Amino acid sequence: MGRTIHRFQVTDSTNSRACELAGRGAAEGEAVVADAQDKGRGRMGRIWHSPSSANLYLSVILRPTIPPGQASLLTLLAAVATAESVAEFSGLRPAIKWPNDILLNGRKTAGLLNEMRSEAGRILFVIMGFGVNLNLDEESFPAEIRGLATSLKRETGQAVSRPAFLGDLLRRLEAWYELFLSQGPAPILNAWRDWAQTRGRPVHVISSGENWTGLAVDIAEDGGLIVRTEDGRQRKIVSGDVEDAGPSSSGFSEVP
Ligand code: BTN
Repeated sequence: MGRTIHRFQVTDSTNSRACELAGRGAAEGEAVVADAQDKGRGRMGRIWHSPSSANLYLSVILRPTIPPGQASLLTLLAAVATAESVAEFSGLRPAIKWPNDILLNGRKTAGLLNEMRSEAGRILFVIMGFGVNLNLDEESFPAEIRGLATSLKRETGQAVSRPAFLGDLLRRLEAWYELFLSQGPAPILNAWRDWAQTRGRPVHVISSGENWTGLAVDIAEDGGLIVRTEDGRQRKIVSGDVEDAGPSSSGFSEVP
């Protein structure tokens, strides 16, 4: 992964650049990195704050030969690799909030946006997008997300080398991806469970226009979150957001 890196000073979105490159035949593992994005995209149509000189904005092209229904496992894989790099460079223990937010001390330090193009039941390519707040100072966060978002530097007081973090993340991604292709989902699911904040906790679920509360029980084989409802049924959430609803709730919700 990342043997070929397409670098931009500023681009609209590294995911959009990677999608164009993949559509023109770029190989698996090619990556796009930008110093800044002027239309950085988050999940569910949100904006990803992407100023220059501070953070990592990375997109990686994958061409996995798996059914499209398994693609969300790649999101969990990306979250595990990112959590490991964040732990390595911060010396702290991050938590993964389903499906793909990486938190340090209850605040979001990284978000992942995976996008897929498929045709006739077959994946043509997946773009894995990573936004990691590395060196952003507190005052540089937009006021509306200042209490919800953080960076490695803000948590540790130490600046992080962007090239070193990028190299570490690409190596971990490659190792997890090879393990996934050779051994299937089990190792990723187990690692995800180890990092998960959401599991075993009360959560508010916001999905498919509904808003309800339950207990996050586990992660399903396909990456969905299994939540027990108040009347004891189990439901699988495949898209949407969950927020911690426990007594120790940080009030965290996704960075808009
Ligand atoms: C989220 O909403 O949590 C996902 C944020 C993903 C942001 C990254 S930055 C690199 C890549 N390019 C984008 O436009 N988005 C992703």
